[in-house]
Amino acid sequence: MTVIQPEPIPATAGGELNPSHFVGRRAATIRIRQMLENGQHIRLADPWRMGKTSWLRWFEASCTDDRWLQVKVISYTGLNSIRQFVERTVEGLAEIDAMPEAFLDYLRGLFDGLAPDGADGPVRFRMSLPGDEGSALKLMDGIVRTLDKTLGGRTDARPLVLGLDEVPDVILAMLRAGRTADGRNMLDRMRLWRANSRRLRWIIAGSIGLHHVLELAGVSRAAVNDLQPVSFGPLEPAEAEELVQRLVRGLGRRIEPAATASLIERTGAIPHLIQSLAARLRYDEHDMTTIGPITPAEVVSRFTAYIQDRDQSVAPAQLVARIRHDYGPDAPLAFAILDATLGVTGQHEPAPGAATQSGLAEGSPGATTPPGQPGPARLMPTPKTAGQLRAAVMATDRFDAVLNALVEDHYLIAVERGREFAWRYPALRAIYHERRAPWRQ
Ligand SMILES: Nc1ncnc2c1ncn2[C@@H]1O[C@H](COP(=O)(O)OP(=O)(O)OP(=O)(O)O)[C@@H](O)[C@H]1O
Ligand SMILES: [Mg+2]
Repeated sequence: MTVIQPEPIPATAGGELNPSHFVGRRAATIRIRQMLENGQHIRLADPWRMGKTSWLRWFEASCTDDRWLQVKVISYTGLNSIRQFVERTVEGLAEIDAMPEAFLDYLRGLFDGLAPDGADGPVRFRMSLPGDEGSALKLMDGIVRTLDKTLGGRTDARPLVLGLDEVPDVILAMLRAGRTADGRNMLDRMRLWRANSRRLRWIIAGSIGLHHVLELAGVSRAAVNDLQPVSFGPLEPAEAEELVQRLVRGLGRRIEPAATASLIERTGAIPHLIQSLAARLRYDEHDMTTIGPITPAEVVSRFTAYIQDRDQSVAPAQLVARIRHDYGPDAPLAFAILDATLGVTGQHEPAPGAATQSGLAEGSPGATTPPGQPGPARLMPTPKTAGQLRAAVMATDRFDAVLNALVEDHYLIAVERGREFAWRYPALRAIYHERRAPWRQ
């Protein structure tokens, strides 16, 4: 019998993942494809670095020669106006392979001074839109309508999937700057574009949940209820194992089976954490290249060092920064609720503020760390009822809304038929515990 060795891949702890190094998400991909083929539009809702952007880029690349779908991903990172949104979208549309010349001519007619960037390359639109936000939206109405019609006339009748990454953040930026009408208009019109699409499919992704945006805009859920929510969550066990094996081969090392299990357990099968840990396993504790087999003890000590390392681990720090960004003025309440669900912390200092002050954490079942195990990753979920949480924090009239948002954002999970709340992912709970500790910030 020939044993097929998994193809090695390099650890990519930061930056963009090369689509050919993407692993897993098979079931979710099948589900999403079916939805798209059925004419549905999708919202990718996942918290902190679960792999939305990587999936979009991989899906785009893997559909290059697809018979049924064409995919274009457009990223809106860092933008904060409708005009910028339209400009970026037009740039993106012009890059699409096999875009009918008629549509490109139409775009050229709309914008002065547009020229192909090199004879054979994609058409590049360098422009700055004249006019105000309202006219930019109107322009976009026409572009979407024309694009959808043009696609219908193609010999290749594949639907075009537009994967829009970080759009919610653009709208949030407008709302936070006090441009509420612009934010609302944008939500409204995007809904209209989706409703009128025949050949276009829309995937909206972003690190911030759309519910934050809707709330701030004062808009009802109806604005996005045509979007089917999909969330990836951690990798499935076999896929996590595949990622580990491929990364370990990429390191030129081997791994003991018990160490693979420990690595998956510590990281909660969250691909970003697996990658980050793998990147550290290239070197030993003394920064020397190492080639011996990875042991369970090495996994445990390196993971603990990773989440405690304040100098190099940017990503864990982002978990806390993300909460501050997404919850804005509600952040103190969000932190207090999350703190109150942490529980007793074993070998480490007491959990921050609320949990200890409230006395909730003491004596929680399963909250202590087994002897000999480094603390954080062994924390056990300690569900609290909404009443306990309310008593543990300085509850305001925002309490219900913030608790709900924490569940929607997948920080917390409602258990016991919605009566109790706990951290959804123990690995994120461990990181939060390390990074949130106020005496260290
Ligand atoms: N399926 C995967 N296979 C291999 N690595 C992955 C996979 N998914 C995610 N990763 C790793 O996790 C990292 C973060 O993923 P990504 O940037 O796609 O997350 P995200 O959900 O878009 O994050 P954010 O919420 O910050 O936008 C990637 O750089 C990569 O290292
Ligand atoms: Mg992303």
